[in-house]
Amino acid sequence: MPDDLYAEKILILDFGSQYTQLIARRIREAQVYCEIHPFNMGLKGIRAFAPRGIILSGGPASIYDKDAPVADREVLHLGVPVLGICYGMQYIAHVLGGEVEKADQREYGSALIKVVDSSDLFSGFDRSKEEMAWMSHADRIRRMPEGFSALASSKNSPVAAMADASRRIFGVQFHPEVAHTPRGTRILKNFLFKVCGCKPLWTMSSFVERTIKDLKERVGKERVICGISGGVDSTITAVLLHKAVGGQLSCIFVDNGLLRQGEAEEVMELFKGLYHMDVHQVDASQHFLNHLKGVTDPEEKRKVIGREFISVFEKKARELGKAKFLAQGTLYPDVIESVSFRGPSATIKSHHNVGGLPEVMNLELIEPLRELFKDEVRLVGAELGLSREIVMRQPFPGPGLAVRILGEVTRQRLEILRAADSILLEEVRRAELYEKVWQSFAVLLPVKTVGVMGDERTYENVIALRIVDSLDAMTADWTRVPYEVLERISNRIINNVRGVNRVVYDISSKPPSTIEWE
Ligand code: XMP
Repeated sequence: MPDDLYAEKILILDFGSQYTQLIARRIREAQVYCEIHPFNMGLKGIRAFAPRGIILSGGPASIYDKDAPVADREVLHLGVPVLGICYGMQYIAHVLGGEVEKADQREYGSALIKVVDSSDLFSGFDRSKEEMAWMSHADRIRRMPEGFSALASSKNSPVAAMADASRRIFGVQFHPEVAHTPRGTRILKNFLFKVCGCKPLWTMSSFVERTIKDLKERVGKERVICGISGGVDSTITAVLLHKAVGGQLSCIFVDNGLLRQGEAEEVMELFKGLYHMDVHQVDASQHFLNHLKGVTDPEEKRKVIGREFISVFEKKARELGKAKFLAQGTLYPDVIESVSFRGPSATIKSHHNVGGLPEVMNLELIEPLRELFKDEVRLVGAELGLSREIVMRQPFPGPGLAVRILGEVTRQRLEILRAADSILLEEVRRAELYEKVWQSFAVLLPVKTVGVMGDERTYENVIALRIVDSLDAMTADWTRVPYEVLERISNRIINNVRGVNRVVYDISSKPPSTIEWE
């Protein structure tokens, strides 16, 4: 097993493109480690990072904008191969003395490109064939800098790709990272393997091996506390630590009473039964219900739950004795978000996980997954031998069913929602949709409507079904679920869940809606 998992790294400088994370994922999929940093990362930092290659991402700006983002010019003179994508390519052209012009109109969508030079970046491409490429730009290259030649052209962009092979600087006007550029992965791989000379060292099995070794070293003889929720990230964090330090790890599972049907039992069974881990369940259902009494405002609910979670968790942790570390399942997208030059995005909803805990408890943080994307975490789970059911679990929000019960959370309303939600999940699984969609769940609305059951008038609750497709939860679209599946879910809920006489399907996309209703 190579110990130099991080020996060859690609640096992605982010100019603000919505696709930057996608570039990183494509590179990781090609088994090369990469990191995203803001475009203005200092030269010292870049040298210390010691990249094998640098990718300049796209971005929404025009290079002629007053405050257009610019990287240190030296980036192009480090002797490290550079690939500029869209804005990144225009930046290269501009800095090296070429000319960028405003196109007559914004080019957005699929375009056909013709490869004119099939060396390096387009190695393996056929010059007699046209290729589909995804364009999303306003500006284009009018004149290439000295030393550059065109590698590909399209109707709207005579220079759809360019290179100065001797300096190993490349640019593409289109987006090789998106699925709409079918052979884009090949172009990125050519950059990684042919131009930068990388080897595919980044595999999840070497990640697991290396992480366990690092965790052992870092933790030494100290004790670690880990909060678990049954979700993929916290489960895998705990299992990695358990493998590394065994009995020095104690897990705390706060049952806030806002979980789905049977979930608390499943979590305990997994950790105690299967892994024989030291796990402490705190049944805080009543505590949370007491604090949620009368609370109907969504933000207020989230705040109450976040605050009470910390207080319950902290109390339990103190009972367990002194620990030095707190393990958390932070993922790479959270890390990028917090260092992004755009600043943390406006708080639409205050997210509650274990945020705030480390400060309150004065513990050192351990985040073994902080370099990974979600799909990589799932691969790590598989590598660790976790069942598919756990590894492929849909995301579930920290505040649980509380943000799916509109209005006040009461024991009775929780019961109604749990019953409806479990029917929905059962049918979604039966239709083999569970792993295909991003999330599928039921929402209990704070309205009653009139219905008729037998000869009786009813006046009962409405359940909304929310089933969405998404890649990263930043955007989402409602899933076109077959009518028969919706029909079965609706029939079963109305016939079996007391207190519900109407089911509706949510057909809003994000944006402008969000995935959760609160
Ligand atoms: P929204 O509703 O903002 O949700 O479109 C985006 C994704 O985040 C999940 N979500 C949360 N996850 N703590 C979490 O860990 C939270 O407080 C929280 N709120 C929403 C949501 O389920 C969706 O996948």
